[in-house]
Amino acid sequence: MIPIAVPDLRGREAQYLAQCVADNWVSSAGPFVSELEKQVAALAGRAHGIACVNGTTALQLSLHAIGLRPGEIVILPDWTFAATANAIVHAGGVPLFVDILESDWSIDPTAVAAAIANSKDNVRAIIAVDVLGNLPDPAPLRAVAQRHGVVLIEDAACALGARKDGVRGGGYGDLAAISFNGNKTVTAGGGGMVVTDNADWAREIRHLSTQARTGADYRHDRVGFNFRMTNVNAAIGLAQVERIDEMLAAKRRIAAAYKAALQGRNDLAFMPVEDFTQSGCWLSVVRTASSEANADLAAHLRQAGIDARSFWCALSDQPPYRGYASPANPLAHGLNDRTICLPSSSHLGDADLNTVLAALAAWQGPSI
Ligand SMILES: Cc1ncc(COP(=O)(O)O)c(C=O)c1O
Repeated sequence: MIPIAVPDLRGREAQYLAQCVADNWVSSAGPFVSELEKQVAALAGRAHGIACVNGTTALQLSLHAIGLRPGEIVILPDWTFAATANAIVHAGGVPLFVDILESDWSIDPTAVAAAIANSKDNVRAIIAVDVLGNLPDPAPLRAVAQRHGVVLIEDAACALGARKDGVRGGGYGDLAAISFNGNKTVTAGGGGMVVTDNADWAREIRHLSTQARTGADYRHDRVGFNFRMTNVNAAIGLAQVERIDEMLAAKRRIAAAYKAALQGRNDLAFMPVEDFTQSGCWLSVVRTASSEANADLAAHLRQAGIDARSFWCALSDQPPYRGYASPANPLAHGLNDRTICLPSSSHLGDADLNTVLAALAAWQGPSI
């Protein structure tokens, strides 16, 4: 099967891993951790980076750092990965799912404003998601957050290296959470990072992620977490960051090839990406007309040896989150079972890319 997104480990990963063993730095401290924090914060244009075990905990730590109180509402888009909502619930918050924009599938700022107006001052934060590596227009999101005195958190899990009009992935939220999961453009095997310009939050996150220990002795001033990244993971992450430009260029080329191949078709539409030269192009996703067409396309691609999968479904529809009150969100629900994720690894070769393009060309479905 041609996979959807697998690690591209053609850099110095093995060398840096061997160094971890040689230097006896394999645990949750070490030179690669600090270097990765420095380099990723710089890529996002932020003053501070705090490495942690994954992107989900980066979101959770961000919510703890702002002092989220039990029962406070955090607004998020209905169309995102479950991790965004899980982090809110684990931090004691109440997720409020709102709709997305047709234009780029990102959270709708107008829906955010309406949700705040209906929530009796109980909203503490908004989490905006950089969907599939694309940045939303940050201006209206910042404006609504500022107007209502709530914190804007950026779920930049898949957006390291993305840009939009001078803003960088991880660069527009008051805090941003990045993921280094195995399927991300830059992986650390597993890992995450919070980036922010706020020194107090950065200190708090570092403290909470290391069991809130006050020093070398076994003294603690809070109920903390064991959420720090290991040097082993950071070694992989750093080798990956060294090749980020090359990997982003490859992802952008793949996305552009899919989009060009779908031009003029009415049964398949490429995801709305404004500008490939700026997007992180994490995963390439196509839209189909119906759940039947979606299932048919997935089966057709799998028969051709391609591991294509149906992508995100609105979270408010799913059992763990049905109990939280949220508006109807027709656009997010409209994508349920109508999106397919195509192979998007940065080292997808031309032969495999051509196999996918040929399989797409050989499929016909109903008009969207
Ligand atoms: C939008 C989004 N948010 C959060 C996460 C969570 O990151 P992690 O898997 O590193 O916990 C992911 C990971 O796929 C994601 O796609």
